[in-house]
Amino acid sequence: MAENSPLRLGVNVDHVATIRNARGGFHPDPIRAARAAIAAGAHGITMHLREDRRHIIDSDVERMKDISAPLNLEMAATDEMIGIGARLKPHAVCLVPEKRTERTTEGGLDVIAGGAALQAAVKKLSAHSRVSLFIAPDAAQIEASAKAGAAVVELHTGTWCEAVSHTDEKTSLEEFKKLVEGARLAASFGLEVHAGHGLDFGTAELISTLPEIAELNIGHYMMGEAMFAGMDAVIKNMLAAMARGRARIGAPA
Ligand code: PXP
Repeated sequence: MAENSPLRLGVNVDHVATIRNARGGFHPDPIRAARAAIAAGAHGITMHLREDRRHIIDSDVERMKDISAPLNLEMAATDEMIGIGARLKPHAVCLVPEKRTERTTEGGLDVIAGGAALQAAVKKLSAHSRVSLFIAPDAAQIEASAKAGAAVVELHTGTWCEAVSHTDEKTSLEEFKKLVEGARLAASFGLEVHAGHGLDFGTAELISTLPEIAELNIGHYMMGEAMFAGMDAVIKNMLAAMARGRARIGAPA
């Protein structure tokens, strides 16, 4: 892949809906956040429609059609969600594991255990959307994702980001190595490579140094920062961090 290949920012607006739902009304509106993110330079919007609708609700996803920006709809591979994806035909669908009791998406999808049912879901959704599988940077899962017919894998950066935030240098280095090797392996299978979960300005800059990565999906940190600095500044700062990372590709360490 060419050095300094393009890198897109997908902004996850789930937690704008989390705050809205705390009062059950209409404010703050995740669609307004999506418009502001796109106006600031983000390349797309990500929403996770969970089975329990704890943040994004069906009408939020429906209202995204009023915005001319690509929507990446995250969902579990359940019959209900596959039906919604097939009906709404978003630009992209990202299949994620989902447990009712988890605070956020814990771990990656087990594509091997998903077997024929997961392959069928990928096939059905791929008729209208670019399908990605959210997986740990694990060789067996990457290979299974390619065999399942997905166009994209999104590598789970959560374990790495947590180690970085706890200044656990040993685990940080081990986890980053898994991401480097995972991105290379996925690209060698012809998969487009995305990354996300737990990224902040620093980790986004570092992960942007991997030339195989074409898209980052970031939510929680940026929505939190937007409370202090405003959405426009946060999106622009994140794009600048990603550009700094990209500029380090091929530069002396
Ligand atoms: N990518 C996927 C597949 C996710 O499930 C999430 C969390 O919803 C993210 C990216 C964004 O993670 P964060 O909110 O920690 O930035």
